[in-house]
Amino acid sequence: MASKDDSKERINVGRRTFLKSTGVAGLAASVVGQTAATAQTGPPAVGPGEVPVRLTVNGRQVNLMIEPRVTLLDALRMRADMTGNKRGCDRGACGACTMLVDGRPIYSCSTLAIDVQGKQIRNVDGLANGNTLHPVQQAFCDKDALMCGFCTPGFVMASVGLLEKYPNPTPEQIRKGLDGNICRCGTFSRIFEAVSSVKGVRRG
Ligand code: FES
Ligand code: FES
Repeated sequence: MASKDDSKERINVGRRTFLKSTGVAGLAASVVGQTAATAQTGPPAVGPGEVPVRLTVNGRQVNLMIEPRVTLLDALRMRADMTGNKRGCDRGACGACTMLVDGRPIYSCSTLAIDVQGKQIRNVDGLANGNTLHPVQQAFCDKDALMCGFCTPGFVMASVGLLEKYPNPTPEQIRKGLDGNICRCGTFSRIFEAVSSVKGVRRG
């Protein structure tokens, strides 16, 4: 049978255990709190709803309200009425969606619009000067470098990026510069011919 002293001891032990456990719990709470505080030092979380996104496209500011998950291709095609660049594969394989960001070709189907704020974005919609085609667009027409035309905007943008970097590219540089783009109609030789014929492309 338990004595009165035993029961006191049980109460004391119970209290010590309780104090120890609350100490551990307090420490755990403090560590969790610190971890949460550390996590909050990164960039602020946005979304999942629509947020303001400000893009600079062809030298003009485009203000949109879009979800952070929206790609650059979708943002410009669906929300800004710039439908020149096409959606081919939508997974970074065909190049139909190629745009230039700070002069470099990117797959706009695989780039989040929110990630290219503050950068200079160029797409095929802004390439011509009024009724005057860009020299690369003109060369594609002159050399008949398209059939269905679905891949053409992406090829044109990749070619502009290439020619701004190498104004007189070698055949090898052309092949390498355009190796992220696919033409399902098989007009590659005409496309290479068109790009080789372009002279005097200045950095846009
Ligand atoms: S649509 Fe972007 S790579 Fe095919
Ligand atoms: S012209 Fe048809 S896919 Fe290239």
